[in-house]
Amino acid sequence: MHLGVFEVAGPQVGGTLSWSHPTSDSLHYRDPDHWVAVAQLLEAAGFDFLFFADGYGYPSRDGDLPAAAARDGLNFSGIDPMLLIPVLARETSRIGFVVTSSTGIDHPVAMARRFATLDHLTGGRIGWNVVTGASQDTIAQLFGHTAMVAHDTRYEMAEEFLDLCLQLWEGCWEDGALREDKAAGVYADPDRLHRIEHAGAHYSTSGYFTVPPSPQRTPVLFQAGSSARGREFAAGNAECIFVQGTSLPHTAANVTDLRARAGAAGRDPESIVVLVGATVTVGTTHEEALAKRAEFEAMQTDEVAAIIYAGNTGIDLLALDPDRPLSQITDDAGADPRVGQMGQSNIDRFRRPDGTTPLVREVLAELRGRGTRGFTVVGDAVEVADQLEEIMDATGVDGFLLEAIFSPADHHAFCELVVPELQRRGRLLREEDRSAGSGSLRERLGDGTSAHLSPDHPGARHVPLARV
Ligand SMILES: Cc1cc2nc3c(=O)[nH]c(=O)nc-3n(C[C@H](O)[C@H](O)[C@H](O)COP(=O)(O)O)c2cc1C
Repeated sequence: MHLGVFEVAGPQVGGTLSWSHPTSDSLHYRDPDHWVAVAQLLEAAGFDFLFFADGYGYPSRDGDLPAAAARDGLNFSGIDPMLLIPVLARETSRIGFVVTSSTGIDHPVAMARRFATLDHLTGGRIGWNVVTGASQDTIAQLFGHTAMVAHDTRYEMAEEFLDLCLQLWEGCWEDGALREDKAAGVYADPDRLHRIEHAGAHYSTSGYFTVPPSPQRTPVLFQAGSSARGREFAAGNAECIFVQGTSLPHTAANVTDLRARAGAAGRDPESIVVLVGATVTVGTTHEEALAKRAEFEAMQTDEVAAIIYAGNTGIDLLALDPDRPLSQITDDAGADPRVGQMGQSNIDRFRRPDGTTPLVREVLAELRGRGTRGFTVVGDAVEVADQLEEIMDATGVDGFLLEAIFSPADHHAFCELVVPELQRRGRLLREEDRSAGSGSLRERLGDGTSAHLSPDHPGARHVPLARV
């Protein structure tokens, strides 16, 4: 079982309200020591990585920040998690770090340089969650764009953005091009450097990548975005995919679809690590866990659910008829043609196999306390381990991204109570039983044989012949 923790360098994760609960210490998110303690805790427990969601935007309603989003700190306010990573890397030695960064805002050269730098500074423990980005309406306003880029165009741009990054990481420096030979007076061998020429539909570059090859060259590529277009992008490019799943059949179908698409793209379907979100509330007894969960649920409202949903889809559920199906957003005369342009994952998740959708009041009830989270798992350690095993076996996912409600208390409880139970069952490797490899995140998540992209990844075609 692969395990990561889903965090955000802000008040709270998952599109729910919890920062103001006495058990939560998430307001320390601006204190590096807070994150060092979390990273060290997870590393000692054998977690693969600490994952940060991120984005420039925030929820909006009628073109502005809803007062409740500011008051409740709902996907609003935070710091740039990328800048935390060198601090965390210095205080740990094995755990990986995954940072979400959106394509379509700056130039691929800038993104490639930042991640190559982080790969150097972490000793090959960095991953990039490549997203096209939530809250595109407020991002367009913040960056002064005249209009929001259309949903599928964002993915088209992301394909080109990533391909150019791959050219820079894989194609510019041959192995051995960096000589650093003081005696010979040669820093880099010009004959082993390749100029990158790219003139595409959205980006162009002509020149050399200035960061020498890092331990992994390409960061481990994650993707989160579950629309049909998002799945195609993920299956073609991602090494680890974070799927949104709340029901066993829906998640199983999603996993099967992703692996089939990866196979069709010429990749080994089984090499792709698929993870699903899980909100685990564990107690020393079943009752204690239920009581903790009930305290969280008492804080949730329809308003919270609606604001987060609007940030991900552009749809204000509270403005719809609660007693009619969600499909009113597309079926009604005069329906907003922009529906689906912000993001489709959170619309698709309410589409049943027969095409029908639940009533808006049912959607709100489902989202209340759930937000953008995946599975809800509550119980004592044995019950939690049973449920996690069931999800894995029934869906084919390779593990979980844990989405705490009270952070970091939930991480402590999971490490103390659930980790030993999963180790006892042979589901989770003890740190001392792992083969270290070179210590890269790619070896930790994959078959442990190489810190570099596998030959069936599209980025491998950019490797200069001299390196093959
Ligand atoms: C599980 C999951 C996690 C996501 N995390 C982020 C994130 O941290 N930052 C962000 O800007 N977008 C995030 N997104 C949004 C995606 O980037 C994407 O823009 C959005 O889902 C729209 O694409 P879609 O229609 O394929 O869903 C996430 C989406 C999913 C499904």
